[in-house]
Amino acid sequence: MKVIPAGTLHGHIAVPGDKSISHRALLIGALCEGKVHVRGFGRSGDTESTLAAVRALGVDVDEQADDELTVHGVGLRGLRPPNTTIDCGNAGTLIRLLIGILAGQQGRFELTGDESLRTRPMDRVAEPLTRMGAHVETTDGRAPIAVEGSDALRGIDYTLPVASAQVKSAILLAALSADGTTTVVEPASTRDHTELMLEAAGARVRRRPASVSIEPAPRLHLDEIVVPGDFSAAAPFIVAATLLPGSELTIHDLGLNPRRAGLLDVLERMGARVSVFNRRKLGGEWVGDVDVHSAELIGTEIGPAEVPALVDELPLFALAAAFARGESRVRGAGELRVKETDRIETVTDSLRTLGVRMRARDDGFEVRGVPSRPRGGAMRSNGDHRVAMLGAVAGLVSREGVDVGGADAVAISFPGFFELLDSVSRR
Ligand code: S3P
Repeated sequence: MKVIPAGTLHGHIAVPGDKSISHRALLIGALCEGKVHVRGFGRSGDTESTLAAVRALGVDVDEQADDELTVHGVGLRGLRPPNTTIDCGNAGTLIRLLIGILAGQQGRFELTGDESLRTRPMDRVAEPLTRMGAHVETTDGRAPIAVEGSDALRGIDYTLPVASAQVKSAILLAALSADGTTTVVEPASTRDHTELMLEAAGARVRRRPASVSIEPAPRLHLDEIVVPGDFSAAAPFIVAATLLPGSELTIHDLGLNPRRAGLLDVLERMGARVSVFNRRKLGGEWVGDVDVHSAELIGTEIGPAEVPALVDELPLFALAAAFARGESRVRGAGELRVKETDRIETVTDSLRTLGVRMRARDDGFEVRGVPSRPRGGAMRSNGDHRVAMLGAVAGLVSREGVDVGGADAVAISFPGFFELLDSVSRR
């Protein structure tokens, strides 16, 4: 896909439903008693994997529209082992949350994923679940994985060695059918979509800034889940509109969970002109409309406490930093090395090829900003959807455009990404 330079971004848009919340709507919906109506479902390669997985586990899901589903929940311990392996595709959230859920079911379950997912660490989930009494067999710490369900899980107090919402969620989901209270302590606050949804479904959850506790639940019930727009899908548009002089873009009904929308705080600190209006709560989650005007930026630093709130947006931060006056730096983001690709390497390699001055560090990167457009050229996504979207934004803000190899990877999280980008780009 060749992305040619744009002059400005103009218009009003909405982005697909949040991917993190859409996965949870299907997985937690499956554990509820009775029907759960899901509106604003974000359909993508990853959430299709979750849809197929819950169906394989014996859950009926009716599809009223592309973004509207009804999940016929089977109750907390009602999932049934399929007679084949569940393929989680590229979806880290699916496999990790599902391992937690299956730990307390009846029967034996086998899980795998695509080539990228099979390289990613799963011992971080297996280890705390094993302490709870679960039977989780990994393949040298990775997928394929087998889970032998148990009805004797125990609640634990667990301090996460890495700040990960996926690991926290797997433990909380297993804790629903454990004996006694479970507490998870986080080294830095991560997204709390699981806690918010479980609370709405009637679970007893106690949220604190650095930890969360949950009691075993007799049952879960939710009539409806309304999924807000995906902040991570909006982020490429927010960055492009900030960098292209004269841009004016409004994004409607966007999820603004403060543990998720850290890119807004960072961009504001850099001098971006971003304003939020119509801020409101939708089923426990903050939502709002966001106005973005272009602005000149200054460099900034991001440290470990801030990383989880923009972990998936750090590739785009690198591009914003390339336009900002002075040096920018990210530290404490070693987790980027175990995402869909090693994002410290893939982002540094691709942006350097396009003319950005940046350097990889063990746990982050450094960028030297220059007040002019990078040259552009050709880069590859390496099958990573966030890297493909980064390449597209880099193309818009470059002098010569960017040829994005493997651009179809965007469909993992945002199938209509290029069409939407094209609809607001002006030459
Ligand atoms: C996610 C959590 C994050 C994030 C991923 C989605 C989630 O991963 O990078 O894209 O939905 O819980 P980690 O929890 O592994 O940091």
